[in-house]
Amino acid sequence: MIDLHCHILPEMDDGATSYDEAVEMAKSAKKNKIGAVIATPHFVDYDEIDEFIMERNEKIVLLNKILGSLGVGISIGCGAEVYLKSDVFTAGDLNGLTVNGSRYMLCEYSLKPFDIEKAVIYAEEICNRGYVPIIAHPERYISFWKNPEVVNELWDLGCRFQVNVACLAGRGGEQMQEFASNLILRGFVDFLGTDAHSVRGRDNRVLSKIDDFPKEIDERRIEYLTQIAPEKVARNEELEKRDVGYF
Ligand SMILES: [Fe+2]
Repeated sequence: MIDLHCHILPEMDDGATSYDEAVEMAKSAKKNKIGAVIATPHFVDYDEIDEFIMERNEKIVLLNKILGSLGVGISIGCGAEVYLKSDVFTAGDLNGLTVNGSRYMLCEYSLKPFDIEKAVIYAEEICNRGYVPIIAHPERYISFWKNPEVVNELWDLGCRFQVNVACLAGRGGEQMQEFASNLILRGFVDFLGTDAHSVRGRDNRVLSKIDDFPKEIDERRIEYLTQIAPEKVARNEELEKRDVGYF
């Protein structure tokens, strides 16, 4: 698996709190057949883009060095989880926030109810700037549950979607699991990510969770979501075009 969504960098957000914990997360990733991790710290302050990128890059270099010296055998790539808000219209160059310098950018919205029309125009701005937004954990947004047709609009703009492994395994409750499964079965989802924040709690122990996926999500689908599509992103290749089952 390539994990496109992970808060592994120490002291950048609400993720890992130390390099020790980051190393433990990397070891746990390895044990769970995750071969590469993209570090995606929360990005919220559009006035501090350069500072954010500099800090993130320094931490990735150091963490990769530590992991190399310990022989953990996993590499950490760079990304960000970009919080979409009105600042996107006035923001400077966002290139440094994409996944490994590709066209793909992991984007998130508020977990509290939000204005879905605004959500669409923020994503549109990201598309207009030449990026492909990957909407993080759509299954977690109450505003999406209530207005699932927003997913159609985002898809039509060119957005792609990433579901959290834990949510698909039912760890966020039945309603979230059903919505996650529904999004996948309708064809809207290209990626499963761990969104891991720590070693315990919001962790990256994927293998035990896969057993709890709804049985309609078959092995071929899991392989596409965890390996084939994330590989394309890592190589900055285009994702497959396909028809979806609109809400
Ligand atoms: Fe996240």
